[in-house]
Amino acid sequence: MAKFYRFPKDFWWGSATSAEQTEGKGNTGKGVTNWEHWYAIEPNRFFNGVGPEITSDFFNQYKEDIRLLKETGHNSFRMSISWSRLIPDGFGEVNEAAVEFYNNVINELIQNNIKPFVGLFHFDMPYIMQERGGWESREVIDAYVHYAKVCFELFGDRVANWFTFNEPIVPVEGGYLYDFHYPNIVDFKRAAQVAFGTVLAHAKTVKAFKRLNLQSKIGIVLNLTPSYPRGNNEHDLKAANYADLFFNRSFLDPCVKGAYPQELIELLKEYDQLPVYTEEDLQIIKENTVQLLGVNYYQPRRVKAKMYKANEESPFLPEWFFDPYEMPGRKINPHRGWEIYEKGIYDILINLRDNYRNIECFISENGMGVENEQRFIENGQVNDHYRIQFIKGHLKYVHQALKEGSNVKGYHLWTAMDNWSWMNGYKNRYGLIRVDLDSMERSIKKSGEFFQELNDNNGFEM
Ligand code: BG6
Repeated sequence: MAKFYRFPKDFWWGSATSAEQTEGKGNTGKGVTNWEHWYAIEPNRFFNGVGPEITSDFFNQYKEDIRLLKETGHNSFRMSISWSRLIPDGFGEVNEAAVEFYNNVINELIQNNIKPFVGLFHFDMPYIMQERGGWESREVIDAYVHYAKVCFELFGDRVANWFTFNEPIVPVEGGYLYDFHYPNIVDFKRAAQVAFGTVLAHAKTVKAFKRLNLQSKIGIVLNLTPSYPRGNNEHDLKAANYADLFFNRSFLDPCVKGAYPQELIELLKEYDQLPVYTEEDLQIIKENTVQLLGVNYYQPRRVKAKMYKANEESPFLPEWFFDPYEMPGRKINPHRGWEIYEKGIYDILINLRDNYRNIECFISENGMGVENEQRFIENGQVNDHYRIQFIKGHLKYVHQALKEGSNVKGYHLWTAMDNWSWMNGYKNRYGLIRVDLDSMERSIKKSGEFFQELNDNNGFEM
């Protein structure tokens, strides 16, 4: 029998985007980003050779897009500011044209009763900052904190929630371990330094934010991937614990609890992979934990005990401690290849309830990428029934977690308009709103209509 899942009043319904993936270059004297630089030197590493010049053209079409956000039931929306657009050389002059653009966007959202949630770093930074050492450099960390303060001062009177970083582990993995982000280095010790530098930049920003006494909250957005062991034996459990330590707790613990897991410190010490830090750094991290946590959830990580001891000659990687496990019968998104495991979202929320002081949180990204989505166009509209099922399936578990005391405040889908995705270009479509890449025209998908009903009814039937 169908059941109605009702959510609390004022639940945040919305979606997330990022500057580099949606704005397009626009004509504002924006500085070159790390992505634009990489694209300029290695265009063939990008799907179909397409870079971030146009993306969804939000820079020019933001008014129409915000109108569509309204039409698709948004009461909140996460965007990010492009550091390179606002401060083209990373630390110097503020670009007035960028200030005008972000003021316009934020004001337009508010006029449409959509709460602006704003991120400061979503994988893009001025290329010059990367050249100066990225998150390994104290100078860059300070420049970032300065940039954050500029944002708080310019837009802080209107932004509802701030986020320092989006998925900070992804540039660590991509840029310093697995070669899918610039600067394409494979070196665990440097990766650990980058991860630590990010956490420090984050904590220093939280500190600067708190001093301003703004009405809004500050948090971080982490991609949490629950680690499930193949079985309940000691070795599989140990493997899952390692994966959890490296990929979740390396950021979750310092950001929410103010300290790194002792087990992780001991492990890195044992293999001589500890980053350089000072006692003062640890104190800043301890005193500046988040007020709000964004959780991005796409798929879980399944692991099993390592079959063979890692070859000590090969570069040190988290994979020294576990093997991936392809669980028979797991549900796969046939259009993207990722596993779909709805209950994962519940497990994350319950873990936050029980082990992370039931921190106020929301699902900041969850979504289903689909290749060649034009296949599903019927009478001029994308009939993405699979996405509606995907959303409902996850929301059912968010609802259950809520009933059991989770402090979850909302659900944001990745993403609003179809956009450009890093090395994958336009391969996978995620939006509630289709973008025709030839005309750049927008049209609401079936899931966009569903989203509007979701907000209208503050729930759904399934
Ligand atoms: C999240 C990111 O990891 O996943 C987004 O915050 C990204 O920036 C999204 O686009 C989907 O991943 P992908 O690689 O399919 O675009």
